[in-house]
Amino acid sequence: MAIQKHIVFHILLVTLVFGVINANSLRLGFYKKTCPQAEAIVYATTAKYIHQAPPLTASLLRLHFHDCFVRGCDSSVLLNSTTTSKAEKDGLPNLSLRGFQVVDAVKTALEEACPGVVSCADTLALVARDAIQQNKGPFWPVPLGRRDGRVSLFTDSFTLPPPFANITVLKSIFASKGLNVKDLVVLSGSHTVGVSHCSTIATRLHNFTGKGDTDPSLDPTYVPQLKSICSPTDQTTLLAMDSTVGKFDTNYYKGVSKHRGLFQSDAALLNDKKTSAYVKFQSRTHGHSFFEDFRASMVKMGKIGILTSTAGEIRKTCAFIN
Ligand code: HEM
Repeated sequence: MAIQKHIVFHILLVTLVFGVINANSLRLGFYKKTCPQAEAIVYATTAKYIHQAPPLTASLLRLHFHDCFVRGCDSSVLLNSTTTSKAEKDGLPNLSLRGFQVVDAVKTALEEACPGVVSCADTLALVARDAIQQNKGPFWPVPLGRRDGRVSLFTDSFTLPPPFANITVLKSIFASKGLNVKDLVVLSGSHTVGVSHCSTIATRLHNFTGKGDTDPSLDPTYVPQLKSICSPTDQTTLLAMDSTVGKFDTNYYKGVSKHRGLFQSDAALLNDKKTSAYVKFQSRTHGHSFFEDFRASMVKMGKIGILTSTAGEIRKTCAFIN
């Protein structure tokens, strides 16, 4: 009995130590010796694109989120489909992703300077951070050392939170990634930047219960405005997600608190005590604490399911495994 207890104790200890090591195995300045100019290359190449097309900022942030929530931050979202396997990229929730060309250009520049050193997963994490900062958003530290996955399955993309998710579904998806209720409401604040397709809210706007009606949780005085932009069959028009599109601020929370959140998943934040209190609190601030919270939650998100040490590989090109 005593021996059994001893063995169990050791197994627990080993699991705990390995768990901790793995969670902390990313570190700031990881490429300091192997590619000292890596972070400067990422910053400068990203800046070229953001300068020409500021809306890419939002797209790059979303790309990082969609990477981390499926198979962890392993850049599986960047892989192309092959003749035998359809990749995440081609799954329905990912068809509206943009900004791949920026990550590819940054990676090309990195490969020229230091071949085979910087992973696509780290590249994406840095690009997303730099793009947001270059657009006057918050800056967060990005510990590095992620490696690239070799698997990308389009069916996995359906595990991403859908825009019609209710608060229970949202909380459980975030919890399954090690993120709590605060992370959920804080990271949803990303919808302060960027756009959505009209088609994403078509049902909510034009046929909520199949009777040609609108979701009653949407501010009725806002509905005509949305309908004037989005016809029921519109597949292409893009809609700003908050009233100050492109500006990283707390207007998203102001909108949600006035029942003007674009998706049911945004509106759902009013259906939980904690998330609702946060929405209301931030709707009255000028963003200082939102930036602080955003930093903390982004660092957490960037550590989801990472591959480190000898796991995975360092891809040469982000769209293909080596
Ligand atoms: C909470 C669950 C979430 C849901 C259901 C959700 C859903 C969506 C959808 C449906 C779109 C628009 C797609 C389109 O029609 O083009 C979108 C856009 C966007 N999402 Fe989310 N999202 C969520 C959380 C997040 C998180 C955690 C982040 C970042 C950390 C994020 C960042 C963005 C950004 C920046 C855009 C705009 C993209 C662009 O302009 O290209 N979202 N989201």
